[in-house]
Amino acid sequence: MVGVSSYDPARNTAGALPGELARLEAQAALTFTEELHLLRELGLGELTAAWPVRDGPVRDAPPRRHLLLEVGAGTGALTRRLASALPGAAVIALDADAELLGHVPSSATSRPVCADARALPLATGSASAVVFRYVLQHLPDPLPVLREALRVLQPGGRVYVIDVDGGLWGLAEPADPRLAAVYTRAAAAQRSAGGDRLIGRKMSALLRAAGFQSVTVRPFAVTSDDRPVEDFAPHLGPGRLVPMVENGTLSLADLAVATAAWTRFRADPQAWVMLVGLIGTGASPTA
Ligand SMILES: C[S@@+](CC[C@H](N)C(=O)[O-])C[C@H]1O[C@@H](n2cnc3c(N)ncnc32)[C@H](O)[C@@H]1O
Repeated sequence: MVGVSSYDPARNTAGALPGELARLEAQAALTFTEELHLLRELGLGELTAAWPVRDGPVRDAPPRRHLLLEVGAGTGALTRRLASALPGAAVIALDADAELLGHVPSSATSRPVCADARALPLATGSASAVVFRYVLQHLPDPLPVLREALRVLQPGGRVYVIDVDGGLWGLAEPADPRLAAVYTRAAAAQRSAGGDRLIGRKMSALLRAAGFQSVTVRPFAVTSDDRPVEDFAPHLGPGRLVPMVENGTLSLADLAVATAAWTRFRADPQAWVMLVGLIGTGASPTA
């Protein structure tokens, strides 16, 4: 994805591509329940509810499904979960990376499509909902991508942008100020590769600028009261810093700080963590 986004799956975490596949899966498993709850609250359930059964000539027609498009679906960690939670939807997992998409199973209700988010191979007004999860933070220019999502949405359809904001990452106790400094340097590296960890606070303005109406942004959270501390490894563990040491962005000393902090944290029976994410949504104009 060089030149298109700051995301490189083979250099995003320790263990190269297999490590990243496992990380994407663990990341989806950690927060999907909370994300789905908020997506439903923001209207995704109604947009993908089963088509009403009608009498007359259409009675014997094959069932039609709402089209739900996930842009930047990667390995389909979210797509698979959405497809089973929303049986009224036909789900497309779209990504520009054919290798990642190779891990998306094709089924009666979900299929992978390899394409660029800036030129979606879908008819205007054909989708009921478009979802982006942890994609906008990697895009050097998210506005044309959001405008393209608006084009393929039917009037009244909705876009859902799931992402983070570096200033709202969450809370961890005991906190380690040395670790915060390491993560500040890591965020700067993503910024210089064209990404933006502060995308959360810009979601509303971007969605409005793209032409969406009824824009709103809401938080979701998961804590170690609900999940074992170990499950937070994709976010708190040092794995994502390893490639940054390899490319010279961070030092070995930074990695040692992060590894020691995570080891201490996991071993502390009093440790507590809360991870915060955001979902921004906007509707396609109806007139
Ligand atoms: C961090 S991954 C997130 C994957 C998935 N949404 C998830 O939550 O597991 C970001 C994904 O966005 C994709 N991506 C980045 N820029 C893209 C573009 N211009 N068009 C299509 N996909 C893109 C990458 O290939 C990658 O799979």
